[in-house]
Amino acid sequence: VPTNLYDDPEFFARYSELRRSVEGLSGAPEWRALQAMLPPLGAARVLDLGCGFGRFCRYAREAGASRVLGVDISENMLARARAETDDPAIEYVLGSIDAQDFAPASFDVAFSSLALHYLPDVAPPFDMVHRALAPGGRFVFSVEHPIYTAPSHPGWVTDESDDQVWPLNRYLDESARITDWLAPGVVKYHRTVATYVNTLIEQGFRILHLEDWGPTTEQIAAWPEIGVERERPFFLLLSAEQP
Ligand SMILES: C[S@@+](CC[C@H](N)C(=O)[O-])C[C@H]1O[C@@H](n2cnc3c(N)ncnc32)[C@H](O)[C@@H]1O
Repeated sequence: VPTNLYDDPEFFARYSELRRSVEGLSGAPEWRALQAMLPPLGAARVLDLGCGFGRFCRYAREAGASRVLGVDISENMLARARAETDDPAIEYVLGSIDAQDFAPASFDVAFSSLALHYLPDVAPPFDMVHRALAPGGRFVFSVEHPIYTAPSHPGWVTDESDDQVWPLNRYLDESARITDWLAPGVVKYHRTVATYVNTLIEQGFRILHLEDWGPTTEQIAAWPEIGVERERPFFLLLSAEQP
């Protein structure tokens, strides 16, 4: 069931205050790593799944993309994306990622940042992306890392040695997780790293790069509060090619 969490006023207000929301791509600590996984965007037709405020859509155009289509299920997110975009080559579509279907080979790059863990099953969207990409096209995405999403009680605990520990359980139980992230009762879907990777392989993608993202020492020096994110991977970044 698609979520319209980002249309919840309380959630939206809190989400809008996050550093990544205020500062855009540079406020998202994983952006540099994700950016390094992108192919050159010059003349590319780009699809952004779960585009939010449209930051990546606008970045793609600045990087030379010929046209960009952003899809998001939230009217709130898209209203702001549209208000901040003045570019006829960027189009925003309101709808769920898993309800999209595009003409074969109509995109060169498909991108998704922190949206696919809201979908109960990634096989249909991966299949959709596989068909929508032209031969040689690239699929680059990030999700909350399965080690981060697995536990029944996600949150740091301090052990007897005073170390910060992320209690990992339910890793193999691929199903919904209900957490209190910015608002109570947020539904995300946990699945294993193997499921992400094997589903890409089964759909015919060639995996190019996989990253268990955590902040660099330089990032921690500039933003000490994120230092704890090195204790376990926060995000999973993946890039794959449509052969
Ligand atoms: C954490 S935000 C990320 C936004 C943006 N990609 C970024 O990185 O800044 C997740 C986004 O995914 C969208 N989303 C969640 N479920 C969706 C679905 N089923 N279909 C389309 N978009 C969805 C939300 O509305 C929200 O804008």
